[in-house]
Amino acid sequence: MKTKGPKIPDSISETLRSSAWFGSRDRNGFMHRSWMKNQGTPQRMFDGRPVIGICNTWSELTPCNAHFRQIAEAVKRGVLEAGGFPVEFPVMSLGETLLRPTAMLFRNLVSMDVEESIRANPIDGVVLLCGCDKTTPALIMGAASCDIPTIVVSGGPMLNGKFRGKDIGSGTNLFSMSEDVRAGRMSVDDFVGAEACMSRSAGHCMTMGTASTMASIVEALGLSLPHNAAIPAVDARRYELAQNSGREIVGMVHKGMRISDVVDRRSMQNAVKVNAAIGGSTNAVIHMLAIAGRMEIPLSLDDFDAWSREVPLLVDLMPSGQFLMEDFYYAGGLPALMREMGGLLDGDAKTVNGRTVGENIADAECWDRKVIRSLDNPVRAAAGIAVLRGNLAPNGAIIKPSAASGKLLQHRGKAVVFDSLEDLRARIDDPDLDVDEDSVLVMRNVGLKGFPGMPEVGNMPLPTKLLEKGVRDMVRISDARMSGTAYGTVILHVSPEAAMGGMLALVRDGDMIELDVEGRRLVLDVDDGVLAERSAELPEPPRHSGGGYEQLFMNHVLQPEKGADFDFLVGRRGAKVSQNAH
Ligand code: FES
Repeated sequence: MKTKGPKIPDSISETLRSSAWFGSRDRNGFMHRSWMKNQGTPQRMFDGRPVIGICNTWSELTPCNAHFRQIAEAVKRGVLEAGGFPVEFPVMSLGETLLRPTAMLFRNLVSMDVEESIRANPIDGVVLLCGCDKTTPALIMGAASCDIPTIVVSGGPMLNGKFRGKDIGSGTNLFSMSEDVRAGRMSVDDFVGAEACMSRSAGHCMTMGTASTMASIVEALGLSLPHNAAIPAVDARRYELAQNSGREIVGMVHKGMRISDVVDRRSMQNAVKVNAAIGGSTNAVIHMLAIAGRMEIPLSLDDFDAWSREVPLLVDLMPSGQFLMEDFYYAGGLPALMREMGGLLDGDAKTVNGRTVGENIADAECWDRKVIRSLDNPVRAAAGIAVLRGNLAPNGAIIKPSAASGKLLQHRGKAVVFDSLEDLRARIDDPDLDVDEDSVLVMRNVGLKGFPGMPEVGNMPLPTKLLEKGVRDMVRISDARMSGTAYGTVILHVSPEAAMGGMLALVRDGDMIELDVEGRRLVLDVDDGVLAERSAELPEPPRHSGGGYEQLFMNHVLQPEKGADFDFLVGRRGAKVSQNAH
């Protein structure tokens, strides 16, 4: 008996990548469709509708992203509503709080996972589900290298932490309370009691840490729908945004609107300025440089300094201020902030919904001037990331003045040097350590190759003996990064790093170091001849010979001013698959 197969059009839209998998009636078409049908997929899903990948970083080991299955369901509803075919796929997740030695070691690995997963599969457009710090840049980097229609849905911040009648913020109050314990101002029992009060709902850190910063940058770049940055994870409107994003990505595929059609140098400039106005994380610098590198958009450290120099701090959020992301959303969120920034931004930059930035924010209103300040009443007049140079950092170093002590922004002090994180931990509380409040704490070999992975340890703990005397901040310098939730007069990303022969490796105890943030200078005040002698005594740069992924990292990671990407990953490779074994 002759069995009639389902009706498959002779040809479906050739503009869809997925048609190369699902569009034929031959053996390959059978294979591609048949196995997908084991999930109960009806034939009509293969009739030429856009296949939308939902790239999910859900993991119970990434608590900030643990609610992503529900978000993926909302995205699927939107994709189906708009006539697309949603397919969810996992990639490695990066939980900032658990991963050892540091999540940053794996950002590029995840970006490779994302890139290859998109390219190798019948995906016409992709929705990136991002939350915890590194998941956002990693997913965007991977998608950018493929350059297909892309939209980001962030998981949203946790609700405000609440502890004994006060709001407490992720990370920021962890750091302040642990210093209180060390200084004898808080008991260990009270400290442990605050744990559940800080993280009391689904979502990522609710301070303006790296996760909230990157979610804001995504929105400022035009890569998400408005309000993506601040809607709390548990607010029903987060799910509405996810469903709407599912609808939108189908439209983007129909319009052939790739990620490179949305993001350009104007968008980068807007995002850098927004990062300044929100008091965003220093990690944004490294991640944006990497994303720009993947998209082949020129962006340098100096752009950060130049573009953010005149931008005031307008959002009063921890760690630079007092409020939290939940308050930011209720005050109007990023659209209200961007509208307040007005002429500082390029309103003609594009966004994923087909409207310009200017059109998206035209009607945004601010509902709470304590949280989102006006341009004529900023939290601070100048707030952006400052890029420092000098013999100590010829390729640059950065500082976030909004999170620093004003009186230390111009400072000269004696170096107290730690050769590693272990050395710091072993000696920082030594009563005999020769240190006072004017000293400059220096830590080295905590960079990309020195650690490896450039951990968030740049905000070194202060010596207990100084904490007990009431000292709250000191100038600290390292080749490490710092948590976006941290604060202090902390100079980071010193380049070249010590392990690559950078000047940081030549500093000795007692050397004078001069910091001048206004003048953008970081100088080791030691005679050139002496430095040349010390340089000749330096050991060879470290070589990891243990194999595995870490070997790849050591061989190919670029320095922080180039975004810490792998040299062979920079650029847009597109989504074309050159060969096919089927
Ligand atoms: Fe995940 Fe802070 S630990 S966002």
